[in-house]
Amino acid sequence: MKEFDPVKYREMVRDYQERDDPTGWFDGIYSSAEGDHNAVFWADLAPNPYLVDWLEEHPAIGSKKKAIAIGCGVGDDAEAMATYGYEVTAFDIASSAIALCQNRYKDTNVDYLVADLFNYPEEWFLGFDLVYECNTIQVLPGKYRIQARDAMVSLLAGQGDLLVSCRSRLTGEQEDDIPLPLDRQEIDGFIRAGLTEKSFLAYDDDQDPSVPHYWSWYKRES
Ligand SMILES: C[S@@+](CC[C@H](N)C(=O)[O-])C[C@H]1O[C@@H](n2cnc3c(N)ncnc32)[C@H](O)[C@@H]1O
Repeated sequence: MKEFDPVKYREMVRDYQERDDPTGWFDGIYSSAEGDHNAVFWADLAPNPYLVDWLEEHPAIGSKKKAIAIGCGVGDDAEAMATYGYEVTAFDIASSAIALCQNRYKDTNVDYLVADLFNYPEEWFLGFDLVYECNTIQVLPGKYRIQARDAMVSLLAGQGDLLVSCRSRLTGEQEDDIPLPLDRQEIDGFIRAGLTEKSFLAYDDDQDPSVPHYWSWYKRES
């Protein structure tokens, strides 16, 4: 992959956003990794430890629960959900991301596929016991953030759980950032969309304390 230049990266993303093509650039990030998942600059290459802790408490071994990973990137979180017994669908709008996953996990039980959160297969509607979102809303601008949130909620079956991991910011700050972290008002949109908040954590990342995060768990109770 070419050297990551944060200034050029932000200019490129802003350019797509100004053309109202906010998802047009993701494929280029993964295809520039040239088949090497290690070269995707935002990939941690390990599952989110907060997700793993939640799965420890809520495994699906023997229970045929269905989970979906939104904007799955290079697949670490999707694989963790499968390890804890979920039947996992993992999708990304970037076909080059899905190709990396399929190459990386040759014997996987996860169903990796190319799909768009804004136009997903209709059989997914209300179809999942566990919906997992990590860092997708924050890379989308304006109205697309709300549409993404509502689409995520619409994937959730009755009594299903939705987990959200994202960067956070104080309201009124960083409003031109790329990615744009979520403020409390935005993430509370999951509650306004009808879900019950089961837990909420605001924390600083051990590796980069200058980048605060949210980790939250919601449930569709009715
Ligand atoms: C910042 S990356 C995060 C990837 C992964 N979740 C992680 O935490 O490493 C955001 C991901 O969302 C995907 N994405 C963005 N918009 C999408 C959409 N409308 N439908 C599906 N995937 C989307 C991008 O291709 C990208 O892989």
